[in-house]
Amino acid sequence: MFRLFWFFCLFCILSPLSASEPEPATEAGVTPEAEVALKIVQGKCQLCHGLEGEASNVVYPRLAGQHKNYIVKQLHDFRSGQRTGTMNEMAKDLTDPEITALADYFSSKPTLKHRVRNKEFAQVGWYIFHRGNEYSGVPACASCHGENGEGSDILPRLAGQHKRYISDQLTEFHTRKRHNDNAIMHSVASKLTEMEIEAVATYASGLE
Ligand code: HEC
Ligand code: HEC
Repeated sequence: MFRLFWFFCLFCILSPLSASEPEPATEAGVTPEAEVALKIVQGKCQLCHGLEGEASNVVYPRLAGQHKNYIVKQLHDFRSGQRTGTMNEMAKDLTDPEITALADYFSSKPTLKHRVRNKEFAQVGWYIFHRGNEYSGVPACASCHGENGEGSDILPRLAGQHKRYISDQLTEFHTRKRHNDNAIMHSVASKLTEMEIEAVATYASGLE
């Protein structure tokens, strides 16, 4: 009898625990939107941008920690053809809710940075980034992209981005191959020399 009492008692203690256990495992904050995003990333985006948005190949932009509304704008621009390239094919069938879910997914991933080897050259980039070039009319990048290249809601984060991707984009803004933002970045990039582009890209890639 006494043993039976203990048996039930033990059951009383354990049963609420065991009943509530599976919940965190299955519902650990994973929303249906996050599941949709993960499926699309695994099926389509991972190949170039990496599962965590780390983009191990330097010609593909890192999306980890990029701002949500900037990602949303770019995916809309790719879908509408406003911004052209490889991504048009990737974005053409995405719905608005999928775009939002993907932007949430990548913006919440931890940011990364590069180790800059050429410190002297990065100093030239530091100057352009923080002071601009008053002789040619280049504004300081920091005035929009932030003191640490962190960006803001619709201004892209540049910190930790691949150097090669940054310099490619600056060149494309200059030649208007990238023409989804003719107002600002075309005018900035058209005043940069090749050396300034390489230097500022080197500097920004090492920011965190
Ligand atoms: C075949 C490679 C490839 C695949 C797959 C791919 N992308 Fe891209 N993505 C690129 C390239 C390359 C760029 C840079 C723009 C350019 O040069 O065309 C880019 C740019 C982007 C940008 C803009 C980033 C910025 O900083 O402006 C976003 C956002 C993006 N991709 C999201 C996605 C999503 C979401 C998927 C999956 C649905 C995806 N990409 C699949 C190659 C790819
Ligand atoms: C007046 C504000 C402003 C200034 C100054 C500015 N930018 Fe930008 N930059 C923007 C905006 C806005 C975008 C996003 C364009 C879009 O919507 O596609 C952008 C986009 C970019 C991109 C593309 C990022 C990506 O992920 O594809 C790069 C690279 C960039 N800027 C570099 C620079 C550099 C380097 C400087 C300084 C020489 C600079 N910017 C100065 C506003 C600015």
